[in-house]
Formats: sequence, C-alpha cells, structure tokens
Amino acid sequence: MYTQKMLRDGALKGKTIVVTGGGSGLGKAMSKYFLELGANVAITSRNLEKLKNTAKELEQETNGICLPLQCDVRNYDEVEEMLKGALEKFGTVDVLLNNAAGNFISPTERLSANAFDTIIDIVLKGTKNCTLAFGKHWIDTKQSNTSILNIVTTYAWTGSAYVVPSATAKAGVLAMTRSLAVEWAKYGMRFNAIAPGPFPTKGAWDRLLPGDLKEKFDMAKKVPLNRVGEHQELANLAAYLVSDFSAYVNGEVITIDGGEWLKGAGQFNLLEEIPEEMWDQLEAMIRAKKTKS
Ligand code: HXC
Ligand code: NAP
Repeated sequence: MYTQKMLRDGALKGKTIVVTGGGSGLGKAMSKYFLELGANVAITSRNLEKLKNTAKELEQETNGICLPLQCDVRNYDEVEEMLKGALEKFGTVDVLLNNAAGNFISPTERLSANAFDTIIDIVLKGTKNCTLAFGKHWIDTKQSNTSILNIVTTYAWTGSAYVVPSATAKAGVLAMTRSLAVEWAKYGMRFNAIAPGPFPTKGAWDRLLPGDLKEKFDMAKKVPLNRVGEHQELANLAAYLVSDFSAYVNGEVITIDGGEWLKGAGQFNLLEEIPEEMWDQLEAMIRAKKTKS
C-alpha cells in the first residue's frame, strides 16, 4: 500500500475550496490534504459544533485556514448564505466539492416516502443546490478556472439493491457532472466525479454495515486487491482533480475501488474460486470435447 502524499508543496496555494460534509469521514480527510497543500478551505454541514472542532483540529495540524460554516444542503437559502460566508472570509471561491451524503441500507419496500425523499434531497437536491448557487455566482462574477468535484459511488452506474435511494440520487449526480462539464465549460468551469469503493468511515459503516454485519460482510474480500481504501489515496486523487494539474480533465468519473465493481461485473470472475490444481483436469475436459466434435 502506498500512502505518500502526492502533490508538491503549495500545489493548491491561492485556491479556496468549499467541502460539503467536510466535518467528518472522507470530506475531512480531503479537506486536511487541501489545507496541507496551501488551499483555504471552508467545511460545511448541519452540525456546527462538529465543524468547529474539525476546523480547529485541521488548522492546528496543517497551519492552514479552515472555516466552519453551518449549512443544510437541502435548503437553497442556506446554501446561498454558506457561499456568502465563504466569500466574506476568503474573497473568492474556486472549487466546490460536493461530498455531503445520506444513506442507509433497507429493503426498498420498508421505506416511507419521506425516507426515500430524505436521501434524494441530501444527495441529488443538495448537490444541485450547491452546484446552481456556485455556478450562478461564477457566471455572474465572470470568474473562470473554477471546478466542481462530485463524490459518487460505483453503483451510480451499476445500481445496487438495498440502497436504492442512494443509487438513484448518485446516478443523477453523475448525469449532472457530465452534462454541465459540457454546458458550463464556456464559463471556465470543469466538472469531474470520483467513485470511491469501500473506504471505512464511521458515517458510512454505521449505516451500511451495522452491528456484526461488519464481520459478516468483510468489504476487503469483495476487492481484487484484497483491501479497503486508505483515506490518503482518495485525498491524493481529489487534490489532483481540483488542482490546475488536471486542467484538461473535464466530465470524467474516476473510480478508486481496487477493482471492486468489475469483480462483481465480470461473468466468469467467480472462477477465481477454482483451485490451481483443478485447472489441468478442466483443461483436459475442454480439449477432449474439442477433438470429439
Ligand atoms: C428506514 C429510515 C431509517 C432506516 C431513517 N429512516 N433511518 N427508514 N430505515 N434505517 C427514515 C425516518 O424514519 C424518516 O422517515 C426519514 O428516513 C428521515 O429520517 P430522519 O432521521 O428524520 O432524517 P435526518 O435527521 O435528516 O437524517 C438523515 C439520514 C441520517 C440520512 C436518515 O442517516 C443522516 O443524517 N445521514 C448523514 C450521514 C450519512 O448517511 N453518511 C453515510 C454516507 S455513506 P419518516 O417517514 O419516519 O418520517 C455513502 C456511501 C456509499 O453514501 C457507498 C459505500 C460503499
Ligand atoms: P460521512 O462521514 O457520514 O459523511 C457525510 C457527510 O455529509 C457528513 O459530514 C454529514 O455531516 C454531511 N451531511 C449529511 N447530510 C447533510 C445535509 N443535509 N447538509 C449538509 N451536510 C450533510 O460519510 P463518508 O463515508 O465520509 O461519505 C462521504 C462521501 O463519500 C459521500 O458522498 C458518500 O456517498 C461517498 N462515498 C463513501 C464511501 C465509503 O466507503 N465511505 C464509498 C463511496 C462513496 P452532518 O451530519 O454534520 O450534516
């Protein structure tokens, strides 16, 4: 496993980055690396206390400036206020990282209409609210060289049972990423997405693998590389995608999952279970058929 920090010192100097859901989990890990690379970072979510603690911790660790801003992404007015708060502090904003999400496992027939809506509202409507507010601001102020990075999942294109609202919403976010990458390129905006595989966080694991499901469904076993992801690995990719080094990458979704989704997809991938010594026998059987026909 290689978890060295990828970009050169100061690679994000001069950039201001807003990270939704930046107070915990992957949002926090990405925010930390952005700060280490010299960016100003605003972290936002519903829980201001948590954000303040994270901002303090990250500032101490990185010597950067991290601004905590309360904002429920489901509410467009709050998103506009959050953008205003970031602009008041930093003057400009260059990057939006749509990372906030809500999710839990459930058979779909057990969901109330409000439960389904709640996930769609956080993931799809929240990403739309932030994208629209920031995009309009950049267009109005004629600010170019901006970018939006969306965190999706690999089931945005495969779909997945038992997380249907999340899969539905993430698919919408991916479509938004690709659509606006074309439509708003003329304003100097880039749009990309990252589809992470399993990266253990408390927020995701408590809701997707509650209780002893963590032991029953060892996520590492689903991954050809036989391990889960390290937060720094994701942070390295995110930092590249929000940096000017990726200036020609637009409309792309980059998967970082150790090959997990392809393992589930390939029709004969299950042959992995065949022991090495059985292949001689199988080959002989196949060859025998060929000579007979
Ligand atoms: C069925 C449930 C439920 C459950 C909540 N609801 N939990 N229904 N099973 N386990 C229902 C409620 O009864 C309610 O419907 C509706 O959902 C809204 O619930 P609230 O608790 O009122 O909502 P809210 O306080 O807004 O909380 C949102 C939340 C919560 C999504 C339910 O879990 C949350 O705050 N999550 C944020 C963080 C998070 O989810 N992180 C994980 C991201 S992981 P009724 O009808 O009763 O009113 C991720 C990874 C993807 O996305 C890929 C991994 C490999
Ligand atoms: P997490 O720690 O639970 O992160 C979710 C964040 O979203 C929290 O900080 C939460 O903060 C915020 N949030 C939730 N609802 C919000 C709302 N209405 N308004 C504003 N913020 C809200 O989980 P995570 O694993 O780091 O997930 C981060 C991202 O990675 C998500 O997009 C997730 O879908 C994606 N992802 C994760 C994995 C994985 O293996 N971990 C895999 C694929 C994709 P508050 O509760 O304070 O609001």
